[in-house]
Amino acid sequence: LDNGLMRTPPMGWLAWERYRCDIDCEHDPKNCISENLFIDMADRLAEDGWRELGYVYVNIDDCWSSKERDKQGRLQADPKRFPGGIKKLARYLHDRGLKLGIYGDMGTLTCGGYPGTPLDKIELDAQTFAEWEVDMFKYDGCYSNATEQEQGYPLMSKALNATGRPIGYSCSWPAYQGGLPPKVNYTQLGQICNLWRNYGDIQDSWDSVLNIVNWFSENQNVLIPAAGPGRWNDPDMLIVGDFGLSMEQSRSQMALWAIMAAPLFMSNDLRTISSRARSILQNKMAISINQDPLGIQGRLILKEKSNIDVFWRPLSNNASALVFFSRRTDMPYRYQTSLAKLNYTTGSYKVFDVFTEETMKLKDSTDFVVSVNPTGVVMWYVSAPAKSNLRQFY
Ligand code: DGJ
Repeated sequence: LDNGLMRTPPMGWLAWERYRCDIDCEHDPKNCISENLFIDMADRLAEDGWRELGYVYVNIDDCWSSKERDKQGRLQADPKRFPGGIKKLARYLHDRGLKLGIYGDMGTLTCGGYPGTPLDKIELDAQTFAEWEVDMFKYDGCYSNATEQEQGYPLMSKALNATGRPIGYSCSWPAYQGGLPPKVNYTQLGQICNLWRNYGDIQDSWDSVLNIVNWFSENQNVLIPAAGPGRWNDPDMLIVGDFGLSMEQSRSQMALWAIMAAPLFMSNDLRTISSRARSILQNKMAISINQDPLGIQGRLILKEKSNIDVFWRPLSNNASALVFFSRRTDMPYRYQTSLAKLNYTTGSYKVFDVFTEETMKLKDSTDFVVSVNPTGVVMWYVSAPAKSNLRQFY
């Protein structure tokens, strides 16, 4: 969507995967969906180095509202859990250089059973969100049918635009239509949404991450051309820092999301996150690969019989990123190849290992070996060949 927003994939934090529809603030005050949770996460983003790295969105998901609209028919936050209201929360975030995302649903009810935003409520709710100074809106699709969605998702795009407030727009539409053409029209999605969920919800497990990675690579020829500045495929939240992934698997999720140009929304507890998980999520090179201004989504270029997958993404300044991903479950695998075998042109390259931070020089024709741990990755940033740099000077 050409609204000037999200020219690189949006980054931040989103409540759903980790906190779901926990509304039991009496017994679980630290984890229930309430303004305190979002204030806590905002404080962490602002004070623990996240914001400077680009993690600026704090996004509310389902179960934030009251079960009833107000007397004027407007959505309202649950008064017990959000006593200050959404506008005050938005101010709190803005004062700290952060942005607020909110959630609604195209149907009569949200998936969690809260009031939805069906066709006749679209304009009103868009205006309410703008009035609250919200910066992003995720439009879910439960309890709506294909015909309603076809009208509703574009209509919401118009209504948000008409408010005059810049509001990033995340559409769950394709996920409710199977994610593939002919049902899903990616050209249209790119015109009306800044990002879209293509596929099912992530869960806190490696199985779930693998399942998502498989679907995105199987369908990459449809998905890659759909992505670009202002329009992104969304494989769902980062679960690094939760319970389901080992450290290797956490690096894998970060590396694969970065190379796929995916939105980076963490759903974890930033108050108690381990320093190892934090350092993966705060890896500067992984983030800068994800945020490359060309905005070209990377692709799976090789699936080896040895169960090593190689992903490649072209980056600005003639650079590129490579991910060697092991689907093996035995032991570190010594994968041997050369840049020439990975379609690199003749030249001498500088390689930076994203997670070990080692550098090396490599000729396209020289064979090298990377040792890839089970369910883990080796990720490289490959600089433009030295030759082409020289040419600029001589
Ligand atoms: C389905 C969406 O795909 C999830 O991300 C989350 O928003 C839930 N609905 C909320 O009910």
